Amino acid sequence: MKIGNIEIDSNVMLGPMAGVTDMPYRVICREMGCGLLYSEMVSAKAILYKNKNTKALLEYDKCEHPIAIQLFGSDPDIMADMAKKVYDETGCDIIDINMGCPVPKIVNNHEGSFLMTDEALAGRIIEKMANAVEIPITVKFRKGFDKEHVNAVSFAKMAENSGAKMIAVHGRTREEYYAGVADWDIIREVKEVVNIPVVGSGDVRNAMDAKRMIDECKVDGVMIARAARGNPWIFREVNAYLKDGIIIERPGLPEVCEMILRHAKMEVEFKGEYTGIREMRKHVAWYTQGLRNACVLRRTVNKVETFKELEVLINRGVNEL
Ligand SMILES: Cc1cc2nc3c(=O)[nH]c(=O)nc-3n(C[C@H](O)[C@H](O)[C@H](O)COP(=O)(O)O)c2cc1C
Repeated sequence: MKIGNIEIDSNVMLGPMAGVTDMPYRVICREMGCGLLYSEMVSAKAILYKNKNTKALLEYDKCEHPIAIQLFGSDPDIMADMAKKVYDETGCDIIDINMGCPVPKIVNNHEGSFLMTDEALAGRIIEKMANAVEIPITVKFRKGFDKEHVNAVSFAKMAENSGAKMIAVHGRTREEYYAGVADWDIIREVKEVVNIPVVGSGDVRNAMDAKRMIDECKVDGVMIARAARGNPWIFREVNAYLKDGIIIERPGLPEVCEMILRHAKMEVEFKGEYTGIREMRKHVAWYTQGLRNACVLRRTVNKVETFKELEVLINRGVNEL
């Protein structure tokens, strides 16, 4: 699959998730065969004002190419200037625009999914950004703002006409947040009206779902977000199923535990032990979801403060679970 001039090896992508898809986790997903990685969403204004927490969000490892940095904002000039700055300073492959975030703080600032209510403004943002950088600009948006305003189809055409080189559509409205079932029909309708690649997002939980979304919606690619939490192996599974129809078994407990410790080591290296281990608590809960007797481990992990403690807990877990 090609996005502008960028070739993607696999059409299975890791959906951006603020607070989850940081550099260590993305590196792991790339190793598992994820075709395109996205940064967590980054505020264009925060980059402009040199917010110190923003720097880490823009960092990525060289193995992450091709990577999209996702920006959010509402001012076309600031968005265009920051796209250029981010490209110049990081050398990323794609700049993606977040036009789907449902969080009130973001929407009230006329950012994220608010932009679905103002197609003219959204168009100006895309056009200015596309003119500001030589790399592809892509857009991620939703089905619409609420059930009275389902405009993904016209929004998609607007995005294409404004210069977007790929779009990703999450089949829920802003009002729905992440609840209920994603509407794949709207994703299919979007695919029918544009010529740029379309990626579907929403409720792809396993290899069969991915294949079904591609078959039913005729999309060029699929995006996996929540189902990838604690399960980077999903990319290996989906790729094998899409390419050869092979169903790969989920890894056993020893492999899961080995991955948790490796992930933790990378988090500690990237964020320091204090933050890195705290970040790992939620990942451990995801990694061990559904495992027999894992609730004790999940409860105990919330008290863990050092890598050593985590290692002891996980090694004990291997024997007890
Ligand atoms: C915790 C969380 C954080 C998210 N952060 C972002 C984000 O920063 N940018 C974005 O475009 N989408 C974000 N999303 C939306 C996902 O990328 C995806 O479109 C959505 O979760 C539906 O796909 P899924 O069913 O595979 O999870 C987030 C979703 C979750 C659950």
